[in-house]
Amino acid sequence: MKSKQTRLHFHRTFDELLKQGQLDPRCSVLIFDRKLERVSPRFKAFAKRFPIRYAVNAGESVKELAAFAGHVKKLSQLVEEIPARRLTVVAVGGGSLGDFAGFFASVFKRGVGLLHIPTTWLAAIDSSHGGKTALNVSGVKNQIGTFYPAKEVFLVKEILFSQDERRAFDAMGELAKIALITGGGLAKRLSESELTGHELLWNFLKPAVSAKMGIVRVDPLEQTGHRQVLNLGHTLGHAFEAKYGWPHGFSVAQGLFFAIEMSEATGMMKSHDADRALEFLSGLGLTPARPTRKFRRSELVSLLRKDKKSSLAASVTFIALRRIGRVERVEIPIDEIVHEAARQGWVQ
Ligand SMILES: NC(=O)c1ccc[n+]([C@@H]2O[C@H](COP(=O)([O-])OP(=O)(O)OC[C@H]3O[C@@H](n4cnc5c(N)ncnc54)[C@H](O)[C@@H]3O)[C@@H](O)[C@H]2O)c1
Repeated sequence: MKSKQTRLHFHRTFDELLKQGQLDPRCSVLIFDRKLERVSPRFKAFAKRFPIRYAVNAGESVKELAAFAGHVKKLSQLVEEIPARRLTVVAVGGGSLGDFAGFFASVFKRGVGLLHIPTTWLAAIDSSHGGKTALNVSGVKNQIGTFYPAKEVFLVKEILFSQDERRAFDAMGELAKIALITGGGLAKRLSESELTGHELLWNFLKPAVSAKMGIVRVDPLEQTGHRQVLNLGHTLGHAFEAKYGWPHGFSVAQGLFFAIEMSEATGMMKSHDADRALEFLSGLGLTPARPTRKFRRSELVSLLRKDKKSSLAASVTFIALRRIGRVERVEIPIDEIVHEAARQGWVQ
């Protein structure tokens, strides 16, 4: 099955987006992160143009399955006068809001229209593209979900730039990941760029998203396994996120350092290719973190199994980097991953 093509639009401001006439507020429900009204008066004015609005507190709690029925009840009342075939969910927020609103759009009346306006760099580069939606079950992440690509994704410069500069740094991990996977012009231009922070991310959004979508199109429903290459850096990345509470993008960046060292240590990557990949990361201002508290062996095993969504898994699909632009999926026993993590100083 081929995924339906999501159209990407770039706008400087919310005003510009409204003027283009691509949204129809009368047939939409605006589901948005409540915090945005505080951080952006321009967003607040934009939101007011939508007669039907639903504000939520973003974060993992909005993705909790136990709260979902309550959200559906309120949302059904809000949209009761709009026929389902005309209804569009306009999701404005970061990855958590997008996962929740995307899931809602995919199951409400067996599916209604969906548009994303990502407001964090993570959502702009990664989570609003590719169609994955997700809910958590009793705090365990992404246990329930659908594949439901948005018809359109609107990238609005003024809201992305309203974030703290630190968030741009955190998102660099995802940008570096996609460039390491695809290599070519994206990696070259990125390593030569003199831009930093928000400007760097904004200027590289289009090629980064199209690189991701090039992979997603080959395996939209994650059936052949090809899409798994997007998990480069995530094997340990997710474990870092869970243990240290680091932001997702920063955890992925640290997972990339781990993956490069492991690829080299196991002979899958030549040392001069590893050096080039490490130089590429350091050119983006990324440096390896040193563990503050080390993992217990059993703790890391259980986090790796949780990530695999199986408490009995004996192996994980590790995405190895052969060189910039060439990745490979390898099934590796969990024991070997833990052994390598210990060698790299992450395990007690
Ligand atoms: N569906 C996918 O393909 C996919 C991929 C990666 C991650 N995810 C999911 O994405 C989520 C993480 O996304 P995230 O990092 O965007 O986190 P988030 O949605 O939790 O947002 C992080 C924080 O930023 C705030 N925020 C949002 N926009 C802002 C803005 N413009 N200015 C200031 N603050 C703003 C939010 O209120 C929140 O406090 C996780 O739930 C993860 O599982 C999904």
